[in-house]
This record gives sequence, structure tokens and C-alpha cells, in this order.
Amino acid sequence: PLKLGVMASGNGSNFEAVAEAIAQQQLNAQIQVLIYNNPGAKAAARAEKCGVPAVLLNHRDFNSREELDQKIVETLQQYQVEWVIMAGWMRVVTQVLVDAFPDRIINIHPSLLPSFKGINAVEQALNTGVKITGCTVHLVSVEVDSGKILLQAAVPILPDDTLETLHTRIQIQEHKILPQAIAICQRSHFLGTGEEVASQC
Ligand code: GAR
Repeated sequence: PLKLGVMASGNGSNFEAVAEAIAQQQLNAQIQVLIYNNPGAKAAARAEKCGVPAVLLNHRDFNSREELDQKIVETLQQYQVEWVIMAGWMRVVTQVLVDAFPDRIINIHPSLLPSFKGINAVEQALNTGVKITGCTVHLVSVEVDSGKILLQAAVPILPDDTLETLHTRIQIQEHKILPQAIAICQRSHFLGTGEEVASQC
């Protein structure tokens, strides 16, 4: 199984979608650790429920983004993580993290990139008046929300959508494409190294 480390800041529904895909044997992986940065994040409770160790690295305790990322790298390495999943991680990451896991960090973002980068992507789409938005799974590079796109799903914006109703429909798609994208990465990684492709993929 692919050894995953998940990073989350809040609710953790995408963490749970990955855990569920593993439980349903749609993904041949194991979540080694959840790293979260906000005390009380619901993601931590979800991890504990699944028996996944949850490690709090509160960004407020660090002097710089680099110092936080160094501690994240050490923690991921301590748990022997091979691939990193940013599942609602709301902090900008630095070269320190990206260099430690080159082309091995995946992010889920609630828009059709390259539209609506950064925070409040759902609100940006709603306020701009576009009729279609969605979500994107991409590889992480230092430039925010700009790495190679792996999968996208489109979601129509309905006339009476609110931030909540639209985000809820986007999340339904996120929960599908995030595990699918991890499986795709796993498959191409195995193919690239000549190892046997896991039967679940
Ligand atoms: C998700 O919608 C994800 O796309 C978004 O945060 C939400 C986390 O939900 N991420 C970003 O906006 C990253 N810039 P979750 O905690 O329920 O998984």
C-alpha cells in the first residue's frame, strides 16, 4: 500500500473520503498520519475515529512558514510517508516542503484552476457570475495553486446558489476526484518504476 500523509486545517471531509476509499478497497493505500494546524479541527477527531495518528502542528507556534514546513517534513518522514495529500490545508507551503517530496504532494482546490486561485475560491466564482465552477486536484509547486493538474470536475452554479449550497455540491465532487487522483498517481508511479500495478487501480 502507498503510505500517505494527510494535511488538513478544518473539517476533514476530504480526509474522510480518502479513508473511505481505502476502506472500500478503491485505493491501495494507508494513511500513516494526519497533520493539522488548528486546535479543535474536526479532521483530528475523524482521524482518531479511523485509528490514524493526528499530530497538531500549530502554525502560531512557529516563527516562519519555513520553520513550520521543516517540522511538517520531519513528522512526515517519521511516519514514513511516501505521498502527501493536502486536503483542505489552508497555509501557503514553501520550498522546504516541496523539495522534501518532489512531485509527491497533491492538493485539492475548490475551483476549476487556473480560475480562482487562493482563498475563498467558491466565493470568488459566485461573485464573478460564472455559470460553471468545480474542483481541481493538482500537484503542489511553490507557486500557489499552479502545479500540474491531475483531475477536475465541473459543477454548475444554479441561480439561487449560496456559498453553502455551492460548496456542498463542489465537495461531493471533491470526495470522488481526490481518491481517484491518488490512484492515478500511484499507478503512474508504479508504471514508472516498473513495479507491479496494484490490483485496486
Ligand atoms: C475543500 O473544499 C478544499 O477544496 C478547500 O478547503 C475545503 C476543505 O474541506 N481547500 C482550499 O480552499 C485550499 N485553498 P474539508 O476540510 O471538509 O476537506
